[in-house]
Amino acid sequence: MENYPPSQAKDPEFMLNHVLQYGDVFTFILLGRKVTVYLGSKGNQFILNGALKDVNAEEIYSVLTTPVFGKEVVYDVPNAKFMEQKKFIKFGLATSALRTYVPLMEDEIRNFIKNASPFKGSSGSVQLPPVMAQITIFTASRSLQGKEVRQKLDTTFAKLYHDLDDGFQPINFMLPWFPLPQNHRRDLAQKKMTQVYSDIIRSRRSSSKARDSEDVLWTMMESTYKDGTPVSDSQAAGMMIALLMAGQHSSSVTSSWIMLHLANEPKIMEELYEEQQYVLGSDASKPLTYDDLQNLPMAMNVIRETLRLHPPIHSIMRKVKKPLPIEGTGWIVPPSHVLLAAPATMGKSDTYFPKAANWDPHRWEVIADPKDQEKEKMDYGYGLVSTGADSTYLPFGAGRHRCIGESFAYLQLTIIVTLMVREFKLKNVEGSKGIVSTDYSSLFARPLEPAFVRWERRQSDF
Ligand code: HEM
Repeated sequence: MENYPPSQAKDPEFMLNHVLQYGDVFTFILLGRKVTVYLGSKGNQFILNGALKDVNAEEIYSVLTTPVFGKEVVYDVPNAKFMEQKKFIKFGLATSALRTYVPLMEDEIRNFIKNASPFKGSSGSVQLPPVMAQITIFTASRSLQGKEVRQKLDTTFAKLYHDLDDGFQPINFMLPWFPLPQNHRRDLAQKKMTQVYSDIIRSRRSSSKARDSEDVLWTMMESTYKDGTPVSDSQAAGMMIALLMAGQHSSSVTSSWIMLHLANEPKIMEELYEEQQYVLGSDASKPLTYDDLQNLPMAMNVIRETLRLHPPIHSIMRKVKKPLPIEGTGWIVPPSHVLLAAPATMGKSDTYFPKAANWDPHRWEVIADPKDQEKEKMDYGYGLVSTGADSTYLPFGAGRHRCIGESFAYLQLTIIVTLMVREFKLKNVEGSKGIVSTDYSSLFARPLEPAFVRWERRQSDF
């Protein structure tokens, strides 16, 4: 058993090297805890689809998430209740709601790439991660969170978001309530943010105007648990904070990786442009529609391929609840251990994806749709989802804790890619490391900064 710093231990290269040395199951020490990694399809099944009495997510993540999201939501409630909360959110992410989000997100992005300071003029260079983070939060807040939240983003809300996000650091796995200055700011921001949402909810309830949008806040406000208890205002607020945080980093780093790859491979960028011209037509001012966006296979493959090579959530952990034998090995994982699944490792393996290190969206033209790979389905309380037993491609996880934001994330990313490609040509800036290096120091794998690209406006009348 060896001791590794967190940033190294989370790197899929580290995992792949260990597989060569020790096989799919091995234990190492991470932040003072014994972590047993179990890779491959069997490992994913064992960990992501383990029974509640055997493996548990909330005992790992609650120390980190409860101070940020607040009480009585997500990992601060029994799993069955959280599954109900996931079901409520899923209603707000149904296709009928997604359709209404398209013009809202389009408007935000058009406005940003036309007027925001990083894109002033006809050409320039831009540090991608902070810019893509802004585009992501503007689009997600305007659509999912509702117009009142979006309006507040430019003022108080941005600072509160920043302070909350700052509390979301790996050190808090070990010292969640330690009086670090950022934890103090986090706790203050949590109270104020809950208040902001509660005020919006109260004002919506007291207004005589009928519901005028499909956002998730409305859905949460109108939801009732199976036992007949309505979702409380503070629970609705907590779920909205959770939603903001859950989607923000994953989607924003994915869009940065996409842009970095496109800058590296202008040929693919032009293929995307041609696909758009063919499907959407040459009138760049024509509004996007949900149906058109489902008809862009190359854009879809660019997103898929980027998530294969750069899945933002690289490690998924569960607490072991009772001694767990690993079939065929004679080993038993004791309850003092944490289990770690890293489905990302399969995405980086030449065994499953030939020349895995190459970013090649075309490879998906001959691979079955990942959704068809997910054969076994189960309902954990929030609708049918994949158990994850078979798939070699699981950027959105599997089983009980599987992502419910996948369709939203795909829609958001497709709109971002479409509008960026339509407006700009991107090129690499010499010396930019973004395309080659990943920063594993936070909970999300992201491009190592500096990660600049050069942009040049196409001759559009945007
Ligand atoms: C590219 C974008 C995204 C990726 C790659 C991603 C990935 C994941 C993964 C791997 C999990 C499983 C975590 C685990 O098993 O512990 C997960 C769970 C989840 N995600 Fe996402 N996600 C993305 C976007 C979003 C968005 C946009 C939302 C909200 C709108 C969202 C909401 C959630 C929620 C609520 C869960 C459930 C957590 C649980 O049950 O414990 N995600 N996501």
